[in-house]
Amino acid sequence: MVKIFSLGVPLAQVAQSLAEHFEVCHGPTPEVRGIAVSGGHTAIDGAFAAGFPGLEIVSNSGVGYDHIDAAALATRGIVVTNTPGVLTDEVADLVLGLLIATVRQLPQAERFLRAGRWTSGNYPLTATLRGRKVGILGLGRIGKAVARRLAAFDLEIEYHGRKPQPEVEYRYHPSLVGLATSCDVLIVTVSGGAETRHMVNREVLEALGPNGILINAGRGTVVDESALVKALTEKRIQGAGLDVFEDEPRVPAALMAMEQVVLLPHVGSASVHTRLAMGQLMVDNLVSWFAGKGAITPVPESSALASKVGLAKRK
Ligand code: 8YV
Repeated sequence: MVKIFSLGVPLAQVAQSLAEHFEVCHGPTPEVRGIAVSGGHTAIDGAFAAGFPGLEIVSNSGVGYDHIDAAALATRGIVVTNTPGVLTDEVADLVLGLLIATVRQLPQAERFLRAGRWTSGNYPLTATLRGRKVGILGLGRIGKAVARRLAAFDLEIEYHGRKPQPEVEYRYHPSLVGLATSCDVLIVTVSGGAETRHMVNREVLEALGPNGILINAGRGTVVDESALVKALTEKRIQGAGLDVFEDEPRVPAALMAMEQVVLLPHVGSASVHTRLAMGQLMVDNLVSWFAGKGAITPVPESSALASKVGLAKRK
């Protein structure tokens, strides 16, 4: 039976499904041919892979794979897969919830009620979503699902990304500062990694302006957190809704102390339904690979390898 190293803690059903197809190891052993990654923050790079001479595939439960150096693994002939699609709607739903919660101060209003303060007077009036223009940073699958939902809220949408998408009707901004200048909500759905690190910096926040709301459900590293804390403290933006942070699970004390932010513990895809679907796709990628049928959802860095069937490498 093929040996798989299970990294992180999969849901019980996913663990069972893995165990039905593979011999699952919970520690690194040289005979391991596949790694199943369920969350966690372990960096999987060339040095890590060097400890697994027989490694063929790393299957990640999650669409973001900034903790995996897929390019370095590709040079070693190791395929990386992720779980696009199955979490798109769940994360987009969360983004809309976080946006409304932030602008209309839902958690703060609930805290006010629970503290018994309603009997002494009404909760103060809040800002509004009405009339806002929303900028999306990263109009990929999740960004587009967010945009579809925003359109139903009658909100104007613009975007910034590496290149314009001609099939999309929303206005494209070639620069992020340009997008932030034009909009008063900025939603980050772009993926993490070196390319997007600290893209949302002091200048972008400044451009978003004193009425501005930042929502981040992409990766914490995309936002310069110190610049964000400063902008919020100095009221150079109005508020922020954050599901991701630079150094998870640590959240800066300055953010914790602020009333104008809504903070979530990285729960974008965290429903049982969606985590099961992600876990199953993670298992399916491994099963398909070791059945000699190639990977189902390889990441772009691995695409040249992914169609090469695992069979060729089977011992
Ligand atoms: C998960 C995510 O929390 O898919 C992603 O990129 O950020 C989330 O859905 C993460 O993958 C850990 O399982």
